[in-house]
Amino acid sequence: MDGNGRWAKARGLPRALGHKAGVDALRATVEAARDLGLSHLTVFSFSTENWNRPQSEIDALFDLLRMFVRRDLARLHKDGVRIRIIGSREGLSEDILALVDDAVETTKGNTRLTLNIAFNYGGRGELVAAIRDIARLVEAGNLKADQIDEAMISRSLWTADSPDPDLVIRTSGELRLSNFLLWSGAYAELIFMDLWWPDFTKESLEKAIDAFRRRDRRFGGLGA
Ligand code: FPP
Repeated sequence: MDGNGRWAKARGLPRALGHKAGVDALRATVEAARDLGLSHLTVFSFSTENWNRPQSEIDALFDLLRMFVRRDLARLHKDGVRIRIIGSREGLSEDILALVDDAVETTKGNTRLTLNIAFNYGGRGELVAAIRDIARLVEAGNLKADQIDEAMISRSLWTADSPDPDLVIRTSGELRLSNFLLWSGAYAELIFMDLWWPDFTKESLEKAIDAFRRRDRRFGGLGA
């Protein structure tokens, strides 16, 4: 969800208001994803690298997450959205953890759309956590190194509950992954859109899906 800061700057507004507008775009996108029949939507809302930002901006982002869960949980639940959080619990306050745990628990039975919120997430950190878990099994003598395969690594990731993403969309014109879904996104189609996240609409999502449909996906083979 990139470009909130530049969206705000272009309007002479503080960055925090850009993130607030970003939450409005997120709300509309969740609704659009559900209406378009997507099964999973994963949004990058706070990266492990975002701790390098000024404390005031970090506080604003945490407040927005709190507000989003408090204000939107009932409606998301009613709309059949299952909320999952992917990321590290390290460094997060008790109140945030309790709030998101409650949202995950409340919505765990919903089946219409899974909304993965990547919060305190980094793709490399996700792999390190998975490798540590697997190494512990080896250390305890419960697993042999040769038994480690791709499926086991996928099952050990924070994204274990979700299928690999088909499509990764990055807004704001930047052309990089920035540590997002490094393992599970190995074969994702990448779409870069030249608009700031607060300007992302249902039409933007439809446009990205149309472009995705025209891609020839071969997964390393020769295709049909
Ligand atoms: C990137 O734009 C965006 C972020 C680092 C935060 C995204 C967060 C939200 C939209 C809301 C909070 C989360 C939830 C789940 C309610 P940027 O700040 O890097 O913008 P810039 O590149 O233009 O400076």
